[in-house]
Amino acid sequence: MAKEQLDKFQIIDHIGSGHFGNVFLCYDPFLQKEIAVKVIKVTDPNKFVNAVKEGQTLDACRHKHIVDVKDVRSVIFRGEQVVIIVMEYLSKGSIQKHIEKRFITAKDSCRVIQQALLGLEHAHNNNVLHRDIKPANILFGDFDEVKLSDFGLAINYHVEPSNIQGYRPHQPLEVIEGNPMDRVSDIYATGITFYRLLNNTNKLDFIFTTIDEWKNAVKRDKFPPRVFLPHIPEKIIRILKKSIHKAKGTRYQNCNDFRQAIDRLNFDIDWVQVDDDNWTGHSNGCNYEMIKVKKRNGWTIDFKKNGIRKTENCCKNVPDDKVESEFFEVIRKTTLR
Ligand SMILES: Nc1ncnc2c1ncn2[C@@H]1O[C@H](COP(=O)(O)OP(=O)(O)O)[C@@H](O)[C@H]1O
Ligand SMILES: [Mg+2]
Repeated sequence: MAKEQLDKFQIIDHIGSGHFGNVFLCYDPFLQKEIAVKVIKVTDPNKFVNAVKEGQTLDACRHKHIVDVKDVRSVIFRGEQVVIIVMEYLSKGSIQKHIEKRFITAKDSCRVIQQALLGLEHAHNNNVLHRDIKPANILFGDFDEVKLSDFGLAINYHVEPSNIQGYRPHQPLEVIEGNPMDRVSDIYATGITFYRLLNNTNKLDFIFTTIDEWKNAVKRDKFPPRVFLPHIPEKIIRILKKSIHKAKGTRYQNCNDFRQAIDRLNFDIDWVQVDDDNWTGHSNGCNYEMIKVKKRNGWTIDFKKNGIRKTENCCKNVPDDKVESEFFEVIRKTTLR
């Protein structure tokens, strides 16, 4: 069957849909390669300006950690006037998809946020606020490099006033209270993305029925709850908490400060959960294993390096109520140097 055409491209697959459009994987028969095309319906002239602006913003913010735009134009698709944004195709998809499918390690989470912050810093240096930082808008390139995408809500903050927009669970207190978004609200949204990566949470429970309920939960650090998976070291939690602090002035004030705090962490073993009783890790070409086994006199915890037990991190006869804390203490203290 002949492939459906989208302008000069052949549609291969539908890869995403969000608020503003559909994204298709297409084949460019002239360059003979795959590309991604975002299709934005333009129901009125205002929408046309906005749709084109997304492409212009991407063009103004070219950077190795921002998705590369190839072209923007207006075409007829399925009988309707649309704007298309032609982009490089990032076959590994959004980090949202990765959170849903696999375990994200503490080190991986930090790497994603460091690179996203490099892209965001570049946008900020060009006077652009992203305003919609979340896992669905951060993509992985072919070499696992991280690229910021979806500048559909982005604005030039020197020219345009900012009203409340974006994804509500990623909005800081001052924005919920009606203040305009700014660079520090982008930092907060990046911090919430960090929280979701570290906690391997694909969705935050946003259960509020009124703005007051939501505001009070954020004010009391109840949203998102300050609860973290037990393998995350305290030093990382401290950085995260600062990035999502309710008091705007206590947060990192720019991308560079946030990123440098992560840069200063000295990673050792990159631990991955296999199951409840077994974690494996890698560092400098060595393989590590943590295993807990229930025995007659309590739990045995074994720490192995390249298959050999290292007694300094092993324990025996651990009671039921201590085993989790002993197990994760070893994981936490060997994650960072
Ligand atoms: N260049 C791309 N390469 C691969 N997948 C993409 C690309 N751009 C978008 N996607 C996929 O499509 C989804 C929606 O795209 P996005 O630009 O975020 O649109 P929306 O404004 O509708 O949210 C993304 O979450 C991602 O999964
Ligand atoms: Mg999106």
